[in-house]
Amino acid sequence: MESGRANPALKRTLTAINLTTLGVGAIVGAGIFVVPGVAAANYAGPSVVFSYLISGVACAFAALCYAEMASTVPIAGSAYNYAYATMGRTIAWIIGWDLILEYSLGATIVAVGWSGYVVSFLREAGVNVSLKFASAPLEFDAVTHTWSRTGALINLPAMVIVVLVTILLVIGVQASANVNSAIVAIKLAIVVTFIIAGVGFVSTKNWITATNPAGNFIPPNLGEFGHFGWSGVVRASAFVFFAYIGFDAVATAAQEAKNPERDVPIGIISSLMICTILYTLVAFVLTGVVPYDRLDVSNPIAAGIDAIGMDWLSPMVKLGAIAALSSVILVLLLAQPRIFFSMASDGLLPPVVSRVHARFRTPYLPTIITGLLVTMAAGFLPVSVPGELVSIGTLLAFAIVCAGVLILRITQPGLHRPFRTPFVFVTAPAGVVTSILMMFGLPRDTWLRLIVWMAIGLIVYLMYGLREKRRI
Ligand code: ALA
Repeated sequence: MESGRANPALKRTLTAINLTTLGVGAIVGAGIFVVPGVAAANYAGPSVVFSYLISGVACAFAALCYAEMASTVPIAGSAYNYAYATMGRTIAWIIGWDLILEYSLGATIVAVGWSGYVVSFLREAGVNVSLKFASAPLEFDAVTHTWSRTGALINLPAMVIVVLVTILLVIGVQASANVNSAIVAIKLAIVVTFIIAGVGFVSTKNWITATNPAGNFIPPNLGEFGHFGWSGVVRASAFVFFAYIGFDAVATAAQEAKNPERDVPIGIISSLMICTILYTLVAFVLTGVVPYDRLDVSNPIAAGIDAIGMDWLSPMVKLGAIAALSSVILVLLLAQPRIFFSMASDGLLPPVVSRVHARFRTPYLPTIITGLLVTMAAGFLPVSVPGELVSIGTLLAFAIVCAGVLILRITQPGLHRPFRTPFVFVTAPAGVVTSILMMFGLPRDTWLRLIVWMAIGLIVYLMYGLREKRRI
């Protein structure tokens, strides 16, 4: 895949455990430390447990297709490469451009969340960081569609974490994987401690609220779609989908895996399974120890810990959240350059983007370019840019990958596939349908933003990608 005469190959060092840990590293983050309270309080109540399950199952269809894809085309940036191999250059560009939403915008949003957690952690430790230097200068009001000044200048902590992660990623994929493993151990320990400490305090009495006096597990619908009842479960499942984003990042590291055909599918499927189980348990314990109408907060796990009176766990939870968000940024920023690397190798981006570092054997140029772009975005992007845009971009990629797996099974049935998606004629269409249905669960504004983003991508493609095609 390398381009350029003296371009060295990427280094193959990652094992199945590394890859699973990378998956868990990318998955467990804001989606469980920040999102479940808001989802329970506004959409689903205790039945947010079902929402996490539905979202997890929808991801499982896509994960099985990703696993087949990654074992069949085990190269860097493989969702993109797979689209290239199965559906041609234009669709490949679309997926490559679309994945920028998942990886770069995802990393930006999580870096902004990281900054919020770090500032609040430091404040509790007696260190006051002025918000002037820890927030974006402009804010967008989604209701009135107006911009306003926040009084802040720049979000420095968010920029710092992106720079640190970028340096680590340039130095080496194995070093990055080792740091990721250490962080994953910390965040998993904290999530598991919360589940074990809280499960004994779960009481159905906490399901009772003013609008759910009977204490039903699925609170009655309040008159409009998505506001509790089954429609609330569905709306919340689109909302919590953000929590699962990341398992597909494992596929982008295929070219650095020792045994990609076997280990990448293991990494994708096992990281998703581990996280689905943990998420469901956290959601169950959380809504079982705190009435959901009190959970409309950005640090719901801390609220859960207060409710069970284990104050000593509180600072650890904040640390766990900081650790979790760090590893999410790390793996998303590991994935993005590998997509750019492949796109450059195919002439969809300038060839210099596919350079591999002679000593570190990492795609250092795309890593640095991504790092710079995300650093700037994290420093200045309004906090209100919604995670839903990341979710809709990811769901579109899932739909394309699932369709691609099916197309290749029909057009090239004899191809060597070390991992075969079970019941592919059911699983792949189910992946397409659930991904599209979940996209429809997201707000109209998010659709508009996706359309604008993809339109910009098509213009860039017409101006660069097609011109290059004529030259090669
Ligand atoms: N799944 C990642 C998170 O929840 C993106 O932060």
